[in-house]
Amino acid sequence: MLHRLARWFAIAIAVLLGVAALAVVVVYGISEAQLHKTYQIDVAPPAISSDAASIARGRHLVTAVSMCAANIDAPNLAGNLFLDIPPARLGAPNLTSGTGGIGGRYTAADWARTIRHGVRPDGTRLLFMPTANFYHLSDADLGAIIAYVKSMPPVDNQPPTSQVYPLGHALMVAGLLGLPAAEIDHAAPRIPAPTPGRAAEYGRYLTTISTCRDCHGANLSGGPIDEPGAPPAPNLTPAGALKGWSEADFINTIRTGVRRGGSQLRAPMPWQIAGQMTDDELGAIFRYLRHFKSALIKAGLPKTTRFHDLRHWCASLLIAYDVHPKAIQEILGHANITTTLNIYGHLLPKVLHSASECGSPSITRRASAF
Ligand code: HEC
Repeated sequence: MLHRLARWFAIAIAVLLGVAALAVVVVYGISEAQLHKTYQIDVAPPAISSDAASIARGRHLVTAVSMCAANIDAPNLAGNLFLDIPPARLGAPNLTSGTGGIGGRYTAADWARTIRHGVRPDGTRLLFMPTANFYHLSDADLGAIIAYVKSMPPVDNQPPTSQVYPLGHALMVAGLLGLPAAEIDHAAPRIPAPTPGRAAEYGRYLTTISTCRDCHGANLSGGPIDEPGAPPAPNLTPAGALKGWSEADFINTIRTGVRRGGSQLRAPMPWQIAGQMTDDELGAIFRYLRHFKSALIKAGLPKTTRFHDLRHWCASLLIAYDVHPKAIQEILGHANITTTLNIYGHLLPKVLHSASECGSPSITRRASAF
C-alpha cells in the first residue's frame, strides 16, 4: 500500500514538474517572440542643420528639457549600465560615432524612428525609452536633438547590452513589462508645437516632451510611482499641491529643490535637471497647469478630462452629426484621411448613443474650443 502511494506521489511530482517546465518554455517562447517581433515604420526624417544655434537648442533639449543625458548619467552620451534589476538589465547605448557606438551607422531616418517610435533600424522594439513623450517632439526639435548628438566627440565605449531576465519574461507575458513602442499609436497626430514663449500652449508641449507625465500621470493629477520607497508624485492641477502658488514660487521650487514653505523635494523628482529650463519654459509650464483646468471649469466639463478626451469627443460628435470625414480630418489636423478613419471609424455604431447622452451639440463647440 505504502509502496503504491509513494509511486502515485512520484508520478504527481513528475507531472507537476513537467507542467512547470512546459509553462517556462511557453512563457519564454511568447516573450522572446515579442522581443524579436519587428515593426515596419516609415519615417520622414526631419531636416538636420548643424549650425551653432541648432546644436545649442539640441543640447538644451537633451540636457534640460527631455532629461535624456542626465537621466542616464552619461553627459558625453557614450552610454552606460542604466539599470540592473531582477526583471532586466538595461544598457543605455553609446550614441557617439566611437568604437562600440551607434552614431557612425545611424541615418537621419534611423534616429527619428528610434527616438519617436522606439523601434531600432532592424525593426525590433526598444526595451526602455520614453517614446510616448518623444513621439510628440516637433520636427525642428527632433532635428536639433539629432544635430547635437551627431556633434558629440566620438568616444570608444561598449556599454553592457540590455537583457531580459526570467522574471522579466514572466512579467512581459503577464502584460506588466511593456515595450513602449507597443503602447503608442504610430500614426496619431502630434501635439502641435507652438512657437516657444511663456504661454500655456507651449507649456503643454513641454510637459509632454519633458516626461513630467511619466510620473505625475497623463493628466498631471499625480499618483504612486513605480519605484520602491519613492514618495507619490503630487497632483499638479490647480486643485492639488500647487494651490495658491505663484509663478515665482513654482520656478523657484524647480530651480532650488525647496518648496514654497521650505521643505526639500525628494527623489525621484528630477528638479536638478528640470531646473535648468529657462524662466520662460518653466513659466509656460506653470501657465499651462493653471490654464487647462480653469478652461475646463469655465466650460462646465469634468475636471478629470484629459486633452485627448476633448479631441475624442469632438471627433465622435462630428461623426454623429454626419460631418464629412474629410472635414473632421481637417479639424483634427491629421495628415491624411486614413488616419482619421483608422482612429475614429470604429466609433460609428456607438456615437449616436454617446451623442444623445451628452445631450447637446454645444459640447462639440466647447470641446473644439481647446
Ligand atoms: C521621475 C519622476 C518625476 C518626474 C519625471 C517629474 N516629477 Fe515632479 N515630482 C515627483 C515626485 C515623486 C515628487 C514629490 C517629491 C516629494 O514628495 O518630496 C514631485 C514633486 C513635484 C513638485 C512639488 C509639488 C509639491 O509637492 O509641493 C512639482 C512642482 C513638480 N514635481 C513638477 C514637475 C514638473 C513640472 C515635471 C516635468 C518637468 C516633473 N515634476 C517631473 C516625480 C517626478
